[in-house]
Order: sequence, then structure tokens, then C-alpha cells
Amino acid sequence: MTTQPLTDPFGRRIAYLRLSVTDRCDLRCGYCLPKGFKGFEEPEHWLTFDEITRVVGAFTRLGVHHVRLTGGEPLMRRELPRLAARLAALPGLDDLSLSSNCTQMDTLAEPLYQAGVRRLNASLDSLRPEVFAQVTGGRLDQVLRGLRAARRAGFEPIRINTVVMAGVNDGEIEQILEFCAQHGFTLRLIETMPRGRTGQAAQHQYVDLRRIKERLERRYTLIPDLLPGGGPARYYRVGAGETRIGFITPLSQHFCATCNRVRLTVDGTLYLCLGQEHSDPLCSLLRAGVSDEELVAHLRHAITRKPERHEFNERPAQVVRFMAQTGG
Ligand code: GTP
Ligand code: 5AD
Ligand code: SF4
Repeated sequence: MTTQPLTDPFGRRIAYLRLSVTDRCDLRCGYCLPKGFKGFEEPEHWLTFDEITRVVGAFTRLGVHHVRLTGGEPLMRRELPRLAARLAALPGLDDLSLSSNCTQMDTLAEPLYQAGVRRLNASLDSLRPEVFAQVTGGRLDQVLRGLRAARRAGFEPIRINTVVMAGVNDGEIEQILEFCAQHGFTLRLIETMPRGRTGQAAQHQYVDLRRIKERLERRYTLIPDLLPGGGPARYYRVGAGETRIGFITPLSQHFCATCNRVRLTVDGTLYLCLGQEHSDPLCSLLRAGVSDEELVAHLRHAITRKPERHEFNERPAQVVRFMAQTGG
């Protein structure tokens, strides 16, 4: 273990890697993937499980202890449980989590849990089958089945990610919150970000979540609360019970000052910020036979280029890559 923790030029400790294992997805959420998109990464450019394990191993030597599996839709990557088990076994990695659309969770929840994945963030933008289909192109019943399977398998916590869209699902937030309370899920509302041309085109549906919070406060008492992990959500306890709600507000109240993360894409590109194009191509380095020591030194140097913050408000057309490339 290298002694110096990984710290960026703004004094932020980087302890969290978001690992996109594929850029493909079986859904087409309007704010994420362009309809009819054909530009997915070719398999020969995908990092192999050996290469991924090496990079994650190097990050753990730098004190990264949380890895979140993302996509596209991570469950589209064949044999994901086999990769998860290898990552979970790395010394120093104590938190392996997953962000998924849950369409394939009915069959994969159990093997992923057995592999060592514990925490699940699940996308769910509507409980109305026709609205769900309109937003994602998929079937709500399949996702609800996946969520039940995830709970049965033992995932805890399960957090529901809802991107709030004006005129689409902003009228059903109370129902989604009640659903989460009934099932022991934590709801997180998300402001839509101008990522890639689909994300940028979706900005007409943007809702400032401060408005939704005010609306919810007329019906519920929201008490500020902290959940471990240092992620982007600001959490509140709903009334006196166990239910919590989180607000992810990159546009109305950005949280870059506490950023603790970087991202690795399926082709081995390290992205230093969700909202900027600063990146570092690790794949060529890996395939040129770099040593473990060199890889660790390279990563430490790469972090010195992490930008201070996104500029979604000032320069909304700044990020051209679409969301499914880095999985949020
Ligand atoms: P935990 O904090 O570990 O629960 O995960 P998370 O909330 O970071 O992960 P998740 O994949 O569920 O992402 C939820 C939303 O937060 C998505 O819309 C992500 O794009 C967004 N998000 C995650 N990290 C960042 C970040 O560093 N900056 C911004 N602006 N948004 C982020
Ligand atoms: N803005 C905000 N959140 C997004 N997600 C995908 N695209 C966007 C966007 N443009 C969310 C998904 C998923 C999470 C990983 O990222 O809804 O829950
Ligand atoms: Fe796919 Fe997730 Fe993007 Fe929806 S949000 S299109 S499920 S990658």
C-alpha cells in the first residue's frame, strides 16, 4: 500500500472509482442515450477483466476503497458476477456497489450478491407503466420484478434514482416516495444534466429540485440527515420514520467542493470529472506492458489534472460524451 492518499490539487481526497463496464444499455432514457445510437465501443477496445482488475488494484493501493459498477447498463456486460467477485477480493476494497436499471436483476441479483456486491442504486423514473415506457422504452413490470429479486437477495441499502422531468414525472413524486417508504427504499431525486446531445436536448424538462423540496415540505417534515459515502445527494429523514429522501442537485446547488471520485470507461479512459472532458487513456499504457509501480505513479499524476468543478450552468454544451459512456 502506497502511504500518501490520493489527493487532487483542490485538496479533495479521491477514494471512489466509478467503473463503467459497458457503454451499452437495453433501455433508451431520453436524457441519456440518443435513440438509434450506433456508436458503441467495439469489443476489442473493451478492457478485459484482467485489465480492469489491474487498474482497480492500482487504485486500491492509492487508498480508493469504494468501487461502483456502472454502465451504460452494467448487467449487459457478460459474466459481470465473475468480475465483481475478483474486485471484491482485492485487499483494501471494502465497498462494492452497483448502479443499474434492474431489467435483468431477476436473474442476476443472487449471483451479484454472492460475488460481494452489497449496495444497489436503481433507476426508476415512473410508477406509471405508460410513462415508464415513454421515458425508457422499457417495461415497468420487469424492473419491479428486478427490484423484488434484489431485495430478496439481500442488497442493502437499495436507493431509487428518479430523474425529475417537467410534465413527465414531476407530478408523481409523492407516489414514488410512498412506494419507497413501503418497500424500505431510499428515494433520490436527480436534476437532469446537460451531458451529450441527448442530455442537452432534455434540458427543457429540467426541474429545479428546490421547488420540489418546498412542495414536499408542505406535506412531510424533512429533517436533514447524513448517510455515509460522501456522494452527491443531500439527505433528509421523512417525518419520524425510517424513510429518507435525497436530492441530487448538480445545477441548482452543485456539490463539487466535496467531490471524492473519478471514472473509468469500458475502453480504459479515465475521466476526471463528470462535467468536463479532461481524461487520460489508460488502455494504451496497459497494453504497452506498464509495471504496477508505473501504473500507480501514472494514476497519481493523472489526478493532478482533476478540474475543480463542472460548468453545466455556464457552458451547458461543454460535455459531448453521452451519459451512458461513464454511467453518471
Ligand atoms: P452513492 O453516493 O455511492 O450512493 O452513489 P451515487 O449517488 O454517486 O451514484 P449513482 O450512480 O446512483 O448516481 C446518482 C446520480 O448522481 C446520477 O445522476 C449521477 O450522474 C450523479 N452523480 C454521481 N456522481 C456525480 C458527480 O461527481 N457529479 C455530478 N454532477 N453528478 C454525479
Ligand atoms: N442527468 C441526470 N442523471 C442522469 N442519469 C442518466 N443520465 C442523466 C442525466 N442526463 C442517471 C440515471 C441513473 C444514474 C446512474 O444516472 O437515471 O439513475
Ligand atoms: Fe440506460 Fe441508464 Fe441511460 Fe437509462 S439512464 S438509458 S438505463 S444508461
